[in-house]
Amino acid sequence: MKNSTKGVGIVAQKILLFCDPGIDDSLAIIYALLNPSIQLVGIVTSYGNVNQEQATQNVAYLLDLANRNNIVLIGGAKGPLSGEYTPFYPEIHGEEGLGPIRPPEKIQGELLNFDTVFKIIEQYGDDLLIVDVGRMTSLAIAFNLAGADILNTVKGFYLMGGAFLVPGNVTPGAEANFYGDPMAAKIVTASVDNGVVYPLNVTNKAIIPPNVIDKIIATNNNPFQPLMKAIFDYYFEAYKKLVPGIQGSPLHDVLTLFAITTPQAFKYVERKIFIGETDDALRGVSIADFRPKPQEEPAENQVAIALELDYQLFLDDFIKVMTSKLPIIE
Ligand code: RIB
Ligand code: CA
Repeated sequence: MKNSTKGVGIVAQKILLFCDPGIDDSLAIIYALLNPSIQLVGIVTSYGNVNQEQATQNVAYLLDLANRNNIVLIGGAKGPLSGEYTPFYPEIHGEEGLGPIRPPEKIQGELLNFDTVFKIIEQYGDDLLIVDVGRMTSLAIAFNLAGADILNTVKGFYLMGGAFLVPGNVTPGAEANFYGDPMAAKIVTASVDNGVVYPLNVTNKAIIPPNVIDKIIATNNNPFQPLMKAIFDYYFEAYKKLVPGIQGSPLHDVLTLFAITTPQAFKYVERKIFIGETDDALRGVSIADFRPKPQEEPAENQVAIALELDYQLFLDDFIKVMTSKLPIIE
């Protein structure tokens, strides 16, 4: 297998993915496996939507369905840096993180040590993007262990988290990934040289309605489609209770991967991000200076924050990718 290609004649973007599956994480992994423009070179599994062991088993199950067990799994964090655990949300993601699905016991997934992260960074350098769609503990630990100079040799970082001047999803002001480990989110957003943050401002708009899922699974083109329907339906039932009148489910983590191949679907502003670390209503709350004349900040303190989305581009791409056959790996 050549490293640089996936599918016939397509040079795919290499991704090291940090995640905590979780339904939208799982759909993001499926999206990446089906997308000829994305090559997963490793997956770091961490606590977040479920515990770290369950997250690993869920990823191993998805890779097994795709016959892609060659993608390395790396053991990430089991809890937040502060030691202050926040709850899981089984009503949204299911007890085991895949809604009503329980992955087969026999599939557990073999974990490599955390230093594999640094080996992958060394191997791929600026051909690599790091994507984090979970609590940012593992990535913060990577920054602390290796230092920002080493981590920033990659091409860039795509981070799902935060809510800027819009309501949160776990508290009135905080989004789940930042809330789960605000200290880690602060380290990561302050350390990345070339980082883009995808907050609820855009991910809450990445709504996939149930009829789109029905249309996708009717094509019967890939091995994920029965699973896709079951986990989506579970997630949608939860969202209907959380957001009365909602027409579908927001796929936060899928949107963050979509951004890699379609950055033109977003409008960004460059700002320094502040994240509340106190254990009160400000925990995990993210703010940035959106005044007409913001306070000047050195460029190295700023990250790009996606604030607007071209929804139609996302919807069309989602349908195209999720109805694809698994790419042939050369
Ligand atoms: O706030 C959305 C994020 O939190 C997503 O990454 C989702 O998986 C949830 O845990
Ligand atoms: Ca997630």
